[in-house]
Amino acid sequence: MKVTVFGTGYVGLVTGACLAEVGHHVVCVDVDADKVARLKNGQIPIYEPGLDGIVISNYEEGRLEFTTDAKHAVAHGTMQFIAVGTPPDEDGSADLQYVLAVASTIAEYMDDTKIVVTKSTVPVGTADRVRSAMMTGLKARSTDLTYHVASNPEFLKEGAAVADFMKPDRIVVGTDSKDVEDAMRELYAAFNRNHDRMLFMDVRSAELTKYAANAMLATKISFINEVANIAEYVGADIERVRQGIGSDPRIGYKFIYPGCGYGGSCFPKDVKALASTARQVGYEAKLLDAVELVNEHQKTRLFDKLHTYFNQDLAGKTIALWGLAFKPNTDDMREASSRVFIEALWEAGASVKAYDPEAMNETQRIYGQRPDLQLMGTKEACLIDADALVVCTEWKAFWAPDFNLVKESLKTPLIVDGRNIYNPHQLEDLGIDYIGIGRSN
Ligand code: UDX
Repeated sequence: MKVTVFGTGYVGLVTGACLAEVGHHVVCVDVDADKVARLKNGQIPIYEPGLDGIVISNYEEGRLEFTTDAKHAVAHGTMQFIAVGTPPDEDGSADLQYVLAVASTIAEYMDDTKIVVTKSTVPVGTADRVRSAMMTGLKARSTDLTYHVASNPEFLKEGAAVADFMKPDRIVVGTDSKDVEDAMRELYAAFNRNHDRMLFMDVRSAELTKYAANAMLATKISFINEVANIAEYVGADIERVRQGIGSDPRIGYKFIYPGCGYGGSCFPKDVKALASTARQVGYEAKLLDAVELVNEHQKTRLFDKLHTYFNQDLAGKTIALWGLAFKPNTDDMREASSRVFIEALWEAGASVKAYDPEAMNETQRIYGQRPDLQLMGTKEACLIDADALVVCTEWKAFWAPDFNLVKESLKTPLIVDGRNIYNPHQLEDLGIDYIGIGRSN
């Protein structure tokens, strides 16, 4: 099938490359000429396992094109995916200007029937706005060309996006058209073998499904983090409690890992956007507001624990920090807990020696050169002359360090473990002070 994808960001690029990988002919279009030029040279703007390989091979084999030419792109695809950004407005609601601009562009250049599909995470009702932006554009051209607007939200995890796309749990499509349903079945046939993963529903339900999924996952995390905080007060160990509740299949083990808060491009933005959508229609989403509030508080916990340990005085101290990305296997720093922690340290007059396997360039891009931030080439180099070690992201490379080296290198033998990856008793036996999340030790 012929497919056009607007936006070569995270969602657009993965969608385009994976659809090309199974044989569709995909044109990816972006307004950023630099990015398009780099993609044509095989330079992938994000770190995502497996993505570079399929982008390069499909580009070389002619199934994947990159262009800034919107007219050419619109002419190409029967299906036009909108995968441009929906950044949060000041009030937390999603800014739809880029999505609606794409709708107008499609209306400007199309000359046959198009199926327009929103892939970006967009608030309920966006398909209606896309439809009316297109109607306005087509009216201005005085044409009676027909089009469909459907919703097909993505459920990709960063760091596993290609694998998630290739083996989806479900493929949600919001449409009221049999033609769109047939076209979507054809498009996704290669990903829908053995059993049917396609879920067709009305457009608004599809739009809400995406937000509800992310809000549910974020709720699980804030819930366990809240219980972890209670565990600290009552002298319980959240890791035992986690196993105790996870063994109930109605609760399950997944997504109840306590830590220093969730980050990334989805959970914080989507929880706020859903609460904002609710407010706009007159419903106060108290639970969602609380999920967000608990998370914001959780991101300050590492600093608070360190501050308390050093008797409220961190001025002049140097903290070794392992992990900058918002989670392992990505270089993404959006809403990362590490940022809240680093900025609090600076505020308190401390400096940071940090290491992350992938997010060093991104950290440099965000914070630039400054004397109170040293980015080190190895995790061990961070420890030298540092007062304590803090772990913010649970990269595999941090799970089994040489603890004797850690102890010898640090001025104070203290590890603050923001992801509960270490065994407190093992560290205590080695003479290292340990502070985790929700652990009584
Ligand atoms: C998420 C959803 O999983 C995905 O389905 C959706 O399409 C986009 O948002 P992603 O943002 O890539 O994906 O990250 P995810 O792996 O879900 O983790 C999000 C955050 O939650 C991370 O900061 C992670 O550290 C944190 N987390 C996750 C926890 O603190 N505890 C957990 O048990 C799980």
